[in-house]
Amino acid sequence: MLSPIALAGRLRRLLEVPLGGACATLGAQEPDENPKQAALKNIYSLGRNSCMSEKGHWEHVYKTKASDEVSWFQPHAKTSLDLIKKLEPDPEAHIMDVGGGASLLVDDLIASGYRNLSVLDISSSALEVTQKRLGVAANKVRWIVEDVIRLSLPKHSIDVWHDRAVFHFLTTSVQRDQYVKTVLNSVKPGGHVIVSTFATDGPEKCSGLPVQRYSAGSLHDQFGEPFVLLGHEYENHRTPFGTDQHFIYCYCRVVDA
Ligand SMILES: C[S@@+](CC[C@H](N)C(=O)[O-])C[C@H]1O[C@@H](n2cnc3c(N)ncnc32)[C@H](O)[C@@H]1O
Repeated sequence: MLSPIALAGRLRRLLEVPLGGACATLGAQEPDENPKQAALKNIYSLGRNSCMSEKGHWEHVYKTKASDEVSWFQPHAKTSLDLIKKLEPDPEAHIMDVGGGASLLVDDLIASGYRNLSVLDISSSALEVTQKRLGVAANKVRWIVEDVIRLSLPKHSIDVWHDRAVFHFLTTSVQRDQYVKTVLNSVKPGGHVIVSTFATDGPEKCSGLPVQRYSAGSLHDQFGEPFVLLGHEYENHRTPFGTDQHFIYCYCRVVDA
């Protein structure tokens, strides 16, 4: 009987996948992933979770998977789009999709007439996918490759901050506090913040990474008094693999100065 590490070494040689020696642990299939790809992915993920940087993780995802092969794919980000249209009808409003990745939200925002759009992501590969898809329309968008935790934007330059499935990756209070500080610095008083995470009955992992799950109340608690909770919505997201993931969306107005 081979030990897990010996088995990992044998599989790695077989697949010619680089593997950091000290990180060899076999991962279990994660509930948000395509079961058909799970066996192969688990072999590759030997060492990935503990050895690869966060940015490296996301670059790898977008280099190796088509945008409709990831669990969070939506042909249209309908809940997000409807909320943005409801909260901010002004086509000149500055809307930022944080951790936008390869989401088609920006396509639909352009089609809806919004003219002042930014998409931020930690992964340049993700943004390249979206830029290629948009073609010349990509010139209408500001693209920012940055870790949201390190983001420094001109003060009060954003009218709508949108984040679907990024905040839930922040599993320490230090990261979350920094995120909230960044939102407060970036979003105008009177501007809007839409944050969506896995709900309390959502998966415990996303893209193989651990996440923090929230109710509407516990998500709003992370942001606190400067954010007036206007409402929340639940979404049952059907993944491309036919499984369901429960999301919560909270939307708030930043208090006027
Ligand atoms: C689960 S995906 C969601 C993508 C998109 N929002 C959607 O709903 O289709 C998470 C996205 O956040 C990006 N991301 C993860 N951590 C980030 C960080 N610290 N700063 C900026 N982007 C991040 C990833 O590259 C990825 O595109």
